Amino acid sequence: MSLKEDVLKLKKEKNAIILAHYYVDGAVQDVADFVGDSYALAKKAKNTDADIIVFAGVKFMGESAKMLNPDKKVLMPDLNADCPMAHMASKAVIKRMKEEYEDLAVVCYINSTAELKTMADICVTSSNALKIVRSLPNKNIFFIPDGNLGAYVKKQVPEKNIILNDGYCITHKRVTLKDVEKAREEHPNVPIIVHPECVNEVVEATDFAGSTSELIQYTVENSSKEFVIGTELGVLHEMQLKSPDKTFYPLSDKLICMNMKKVSLEKVYDCLLNETNEVFVDEEVKAMAEKSLDRMLELAK
Ligand code: 13P
Ligand code: SF4
Repeated sequence: MSLKEDVLKLKKEKNAIILAHYYVDGAVQDVADFVGDSYALAKKAKNTDADIIVFAGVKFMGESAKMLNPDKKVLMPDLNADCPMAHMASKAVIKRMKEEYEDLAVVCYINSTAELKTMADICVTSSNALKIVRSLPNKNIFFIPDGNLGAYVKKQVPEKNIILNDGYCITHKRVTLKDVEKAREEHPNVPIIVHPECVNEVVEATDFAGSTSELIQYTVENSSKEFVIGTELGVLHEMQLKSPDKTFYPLSDKLICMNMKKVSLEKVYDCLLNETNEVFVDEEVKAMAEKSLDRMLELAK
């Protein structure tokens, strides 16, 4: 039996569900019950009735799944797959902001530690941030930790006073304006589409920005036969599956998230077989952080 067949058999025997982000290796996406962006994965984690959730992604995703569905056993193929941006905000600074602005809402990108989420009024993902920020009654918003997604939201929602934090995604930050200019030269008239975690000047110079699911959807619906893709290159797997007749060019070959790529099929199999790498969230942290996740699921509907 192949490793893929072993995993599929094992997950049936154990009544487990495998959730995978679009950025993990294609071989892992192929054994998953559900592949999605951060928002869709959070909803799936909340609503599954499987006994075990194997989360093929980075640590904040496993933690969020555990907080949204605490009775389940949540396993991660590699507990060292951690998103550096998830740590890029300071609790002391958030506290200071809360003191400074009376009506402040702390809006926390889901790409953050459970500890940071304890300070948040609401979580967002890249696919619901605009909708949620627009719907908040607060004028003053402190957007953590991603300064680039924050800047994107600020541009689209000018009626709010959005205060930016200086966190960033180390993967998307590698894309430069030069890469966009080069792609325009090499692929004239081909849509260039990017994730809003890219720096603002890159987002502004391209044709569409959206979450990973929105980017995939764009390539399905747009009549162009070619696209330049400015997000982690794991998405090409799904784009190619959905549109086998279309051609996709990476905006930069540096768009590889080393943490997402720590998740391998072997590790998926091992953690499920031995039920190792279980995710635990401190009860006190969970009690404070889960509200911001639940509030997101409520407002994003
Ligand atoms: P989305 O899944 O919301 O597009 O976020 C991308 C990302 O960086 C996940 O780590
Ligand atoms: Fe974090 Fe960026 Fe990797 Fe997503 S792509 S997990 S934001 S480093």
